[in-house]
Amino acid sequence: MKFAASTVFAVLPVLVAAHGADNLHARHLQGRQVPPAAAAVSSSSSAAAPPAGSAAAPPAGSPASAPPGSPPGGTTAAPGGTTAPLPSFTLLATNPTAAPLSVINSLQPSSATIPLPSTAVVGSTPTFLSNAPPLPNAALLNPANYPKLDVPPPIDSDEVQQWIKEVQDTGVEIPNLNPTNPGGCPNNTAAAADQTRCWWTCGGCTRSTDITQCPTALDWGLTYDDGPSFYTPNLLQFLDQNNLKSTFFVVGSRAISFPATLQEEYMGQHQIAVHTWSHPPLTTLSNEEIIAELGWTKKIIKDVTGVTPNMMRPPYGDIDDRVRAISLAMGLTPVMWTRISPLATFDTDDFDIHGGLTTVQQVLQNWENILGNVSTMSNGFIVLEHDLFEQTVEVATGYILPDALAHKPPFNIRPVVNCLNRDLADAYIETNNNATNPPAFSAAVSAGALTTTAAPAGQTGGSGGSSGSKSAGVSLHASSLLSLLGLLFGGALALHL
Ligand SMILES: *[C@@H]1O[C@H](CO)[C@@H](O)[C@H](O)[C@H]1NC(C)=O
Ligand SMILES: *[C@@H]1O[C@H](CO)[C@@H](O)[C@H](O)[C@H]1NC(C)=O
Ligand SMILES: *[C@@H]1O[C@H](CO)[C@@H](O)[C@H](O)[C@H]1NC(C)=O
Ligand SMILES: [Zn+2]
Repeated sequence: MKFAASTVFAVLPVLVAAHGADNLHARHLQGRQVPPAAAAVSSSSSAAAPPAGSAAAPPAGSPASAPPGSPPGGTTAAPGGTTAPLPSFTLLATNPTAAPLSVINSLQPSSATIPLPSTAVVGSTPTFLSNAPPLPNAALLNPANYPKLDVPPPIDSDEVQQWIKEVQDTGVEIPNLNPTNPGGCPNNTAAAADQTRCWWTCGGCTRSTDITQCPTALDWGLTYDDGPSFYTPNLLQFLDQNNLKSTFFVVGSRAISFPATLQEEYMGQHQIAVHTWSHPPLTTLSNEEIIAELGWTKKIIKDVTGVTPNMMRPPYGDIDDRVRAISLAMGLTPVMWTRISPLATFDTDDFDIHGGLTTVQQVLQNWENILGNVSTMSNGFIVLEHDLFEQTVEVATGYILPDALAHKPPFNIRPVVNCLNRDLADAYIETNNNATNPPAFSAAVSAGALTTTAAPAGQTGGSGGSSGSKSAGVSLHASSLLSLLGLLFGGALALHL
């Protein structure tokens, strides 16, 4: 999920195990949210005749698009009328077994999940990656060996102290920026206006080291965030049936709860990447806390799959040059979602159906707007979606993916690492071809996007619990943007400074 530039967000208490997939994350309330009553208007959705293919649409009027007795879209008009524009969308295809739009809402009772298939055999060695280690036995994982779920891990553990030292040993110059206040842009006037910070949240600034799109037109770098969850197997089944592979940005706390699902994603040749341990807005944390969030997520993913991801997505897209430098020093390349203007960010807002902050009709309208923007682009794209909630998985498998599969001309839907024209093996530190795909940190340094001080072995500095203000030197240089841009993306990246 994300927050918008105008957002005021409140952090609510996080409840974990007893609540299943609910309340797993602190919420960032959306400034632009539409009250559910006003948003619950009928759409003009329709399902046209499908092309021959895997994701066939139902006959017109079938439950997938228009449940009997309901208007298309299936929701009731707001009493007394509303001046809000009605969501309006047309899908080329929907899934014949999709939940009707009328039931995909915050009040939806949980329905059955499907069992995991069982391709993940303990000790088996992935044949699709050369040099991959054997699959660990997830049953041996002991949660007591990991931090508490869904809160930022303590920084005084041996593990975190070691990772702090490793970051220092890279010699990276972490920009001397204070952590931001909670509350997003309105509560951070100076930081939001400081363009040298390049804070994505307040203005959409990106650096050449951020992946924000795919270089090739019609490529969709498919991503799902915040899992694994109860509903991830439903998504995996649809992806399998349609021979699709995705990138999953995994929350470390969810990996502890659903290790077998994470193994299934990995063995199913999807790309696994890091989405932090407890899903905080990273710019609000100290350097050490950021290292703890990313380090523990790298570790649990390695402990479950045998490999360590080399890409990360910041929760809410909340990244600035300090978070970038730390991520890159930890071998993690930031992956955002495409944003072509302040009004066109490729976020379906699927996350907000569950909380009643938006409707499935509005999400499908957002999707259609994204497709409209895609049709104007000379490169490929990345969209924000989630595998956390039943509603997000249903809108993906029932509507968005079938529609995308019917798109003309066809999309090339694949994991982000593949849309960057790299092999899946290049998504993991252990199997990455370091000759053709230099690791994130050294690539950034060679391209001049990041600078280092001479870092004599043993130099550790006085790292305690203080927040990010020790190291000197701003290290991501605008002047170096074009070189790395050309190196990675053939000049296709846009900058928003
Ligand atoms: C704004 O920041 C201050 C200082 O960190 C904090 O105490 C306050 O709770 C924040 N306000 C909101 C609305 O988050
Ligand atoms: C691009 O997206 C914006 C915001 O969703 C939308 O208003 C606009 O119509 C879209 N552009 C096209 C060409 O579809
Ligand atoms: C690439 O380098 C990493 C260390 O950064 C190493 O662990 C890995 O084995 C190397 N890749 C290959 C294929 O040797
Ligand atoms: Zn997220």
